[in-house]
Amino acid sequence: MSQESNKKRAPRNKTVTLSEEELDFYESRLLKLSTNFSPDELLNKTINQDLFTAIDFLPEAFVDLLFLDPPYNLTKTFNNNTFREQSLSEYIRWLESWFVKLLKVLKPNASVYICGDWRSSTAIHLVAQKYLNIRSRITWEREKGRGALNNWKNCSEDIWFCTISDEYTFNVDAVKMKRRVIAPYKENGTPKDWQETNQGNFRLTYPSNIWTDLTIPFWSMPENTDHPTQKPEKLLAKIILASSNPNDLVFDPFLGSGTSSVVAKKLKRNYLGIELERLYCCLAEKRLEMANEDSSIQGYAEGVFWERNTHPLTKNKPTPLLKEKDPTSLNLFQSGLKRPNNQLDK
Ligand SMILES: C[S@@+](CC[C@H](N)C(=O)[O-])C[C@H]1O[C@@H](n2cnc3c(N)ncnc32)[C@H](O)[C@@H]1O
Repeated sequence: MSQESNKKRAPRNKTVTLSEEELDFYESRLLKLSTNFSPDELLNKTINQDLFTAIDFLPEAFVDLLFLDPPYNLTKTFNNNTFREQSLSEYIRWLESWFVKLLKVLKPNASVYICGDWRSSTAIHLVAQKYLNIRSRITWEREKGRGALNNWKNCSEDIWFCTISDEYTFNVDAVKMKRRVIAPYKENGTPKDWQETNQGNFRLTYPSNIWTDLTIPFWSMPENTDHPTQKPEKLLAKIILASSNPNDLVFDPFLGSGTSSVVAKKLKRNYLGIELERLYCCLAEKRLEMANEDSSIQGYAEGVFWERNTHPLTKNKPTPLLKEKDPTSLNLFQSGLKRPNNQLDK
């Protein structure tokens, strides 16, 4: 059954869905590998297959940026398939079973980003350090999550940033962040390290490994799908801008709803994704087509990343002034924009 007939949605709900016709249409674009493919044949494609099967048919040394967002070590259902929580050592063995085989696809100057929550992070660290140079561990704030009665609310995730060698791309100027200046200091009457604009006072800052400016996709964002663990486009934009150049190839073997491919396309990179579930592959293809019409990335504008809800043109959200001055609007923003409960935790 198509997604559209499954659920009733509010009129302002922008979630990307698929009709039966669209499913058939987008499925015809998907690849399945049963023989060796060249890099050109895989350019800007989505492979609908188990990674464990596809991996043998991938070429060598063709990827500039590998983004890995595998199932975390949690019991979680992805459409027709459920990933089951394992012991730490079993999860390490599972990671290694595909990770080692994937190394062949990387160019010598490639970068690798690996996502996990706090439970999976130990395993990722232990596997990554055996094969790669670990450069940093980014921690990002998932501002939503279930409150816990007997524990700290789980509100953060990790992304391990690794490279093959000491030669790698890192475009720091492309990932600077525009922050509101709290205490505008002037020297001889002129702003020191910040700009006065009619939209407010801002400073461009160097990006750190703590990311607190991300919003998990929700129903009124045009990037939203029903994928249970979809990453924000803004998160991918940071990674892709920092660690690749235009026309480079971004590869994501756990593509999900297609976020990495979509953002790669919007930022004029090439992409390749693998995903087990046909539904998610088709959602990825639909989002890729939508990117032809709208290449904007929420939270990234005018070549910089904006702190959450500070960009003056941000739609459907309180303006910065409202947010600061009107506690009601702040509460609305903090409590009202949540996913349904079943989508909160990875
Ligand atoms: C954490 S999600 C990725 C979410 C994605 N980053 C996004 O923004 O939508 C992991 C994905 O890996 C897929 N997956 C799990 N095992 C797989 C396998 N063996 N081969 C290919 N895909 C797999 C799941 O169906 C799921 O969509």
